[in-house]
Amino acid sequence: MTEETTLTGQAPPPVRDWSTPDLDGTDFDPVLADLMREGPLTRIRLPFGEGWAWLATRYDDVKLITNDPRFGRTEVTHRQVTRMAPNFAPRPGSLAWADQPDHNRLRKPVAGAFTVSAMKRLRPRAQAVLDELVEGVVQDGPPADLIERVLEPFPLTVVSEVMGVPAADRGQVHAWTREIISTNGVEAAGRAKDGLYGWITATVRARAASPGEDVYSMLGGAVARGEISEAEAVGLAGPLQIGGEAVTHNCGQMLYLMLTRPELMERMRARPEARGPVLDELFRWIPHRSSVGLARIALEDVEIAGHRIAAGEPVYVSYLAANRDPAVFPDPDRIDPDRDPNPHVAFGNGPHFCTGTVLARLQTELLVDTLLDRLPGLRLAVPAEQVRWRHRTMIRGPQTLPVTWSA
Ligand code: HEM
Repeated sequence: MTEETTLTGQAPPPVRDWSTPDLDGTDFDPVLADLMREGPLTRIRLPFGEGWAWLATRYDDVKLITNDPRFGRTEVTHRQVTRMAPNFAPRPGSLAWADQPDHNRLRKPVAGAFTVSAMKRLRPRAQAVLDELVEGVVQDGPPADLIERVLEPFPLTVVSEVMGVPAADRGQVHAWTREIISTNGVEAAGRAKDGLYGWITATVRARAASPGEDVYSMLGGAVARGEISEAEAVGLAGPLQIGGEAVTHNCGQMLYLMLTRPELMERMRARPEARGPVLDELFRWIPHRSSVGLARIALEDVEIAGHRIAAGEPVYVSYLAANRDPAVFPDPDRIDPDRDPNPHVAFGNGPHFCTGTVLARLQTELLVDTLLDRLPGLRLAVPAEQVRWRHRTMIRGPQTLPVTWSA
């Protein structure tokens, strides 16, 4: 690590150990809250990897760092940067680790599948998938676990439509993705990853000349034209195929909030036409993930908040913290359904802005609308303290969401 200096001559902030406790419910991580109080730029050591990293928590700094080419992702793949995840195996083709111009080259073949107009075309089919799942729940009658019956299968099925997974293979592909996202253990997840990535390779090969608008056809074509390599196509497809996980857990937190805050549920039911801005306020407020995501490395010296980040030093940003910055969001810990403007960064910022944003919004909107409309009197079937939460996980959310309704 390079020499420690600051512009102002003040001592650099102390390095804080940030182990990630298993947080239940939707509580904000108390360690992150402390770090936010300590200063705009702090230093952290996470459970795995080596050394320490800077952490930016203020909205303006987070926006600057995530949109500034002086901070790169690719350099991280050559290092053992302090991190939250035990295993570190970036694949070629992964959007998340690519810098420009590679990032643009890789994103181009799949971007068309996730645009607003593509999502408009997808909407009726996604609604039909959801209606079938919810109809099954209604038929069986209360109680039901919304995670198992709806929140998990819905995003998996919709993403399979977008990707172009043939009906005959869906059962197997879903079994792999479910295993990868479950908390059953590293070995089982490893076997499922091998299975899924083998299947993706064969599918991309088979679609080299396919004229389809599905992601596997787009990738097969891009490989055939020499725009990306086969390994890159596989590295691109994997996270997209698994990406629905984020919707399951984010929407799980969202429904839990509505089920435990009667005023929020009441507001959603009373003004269905104005649900959009409330969903945005929930996206802002929900503690989507544990700890922090992927680091960046300063590619040259950069001055931020009175500190000099030296070339080669790793930097994390916290979108969760930025979304609670009182300079941008007055009374930030309060869920304010009338908050306006609400320029939250729940889906990230800059070139690495979430690829699935429009898809995630579409699915969340459909889920909230359909569940509230089809299940009148929807409420938790157990006391709120008995809802079980996912542990040892990157993405936070309820493990199960037992509900009942007026049948
Ligand atoms: C990246 C949030 C759903 C695919 C990200 C990032 C955030 C995020 C914060 C990181 C930005 C960064 O690295 O600076 C969310 C939330 C979701 C969601 C809150 C649901 C509510 C999805 C879905 C998909 C998806 C449904 C795909 C089908 C991706 C991909 C990236 C990403 C591929 C990496 C993009 C890149 O580095 O260029 N997401 N996401 N996400 N997300 Fe999502």
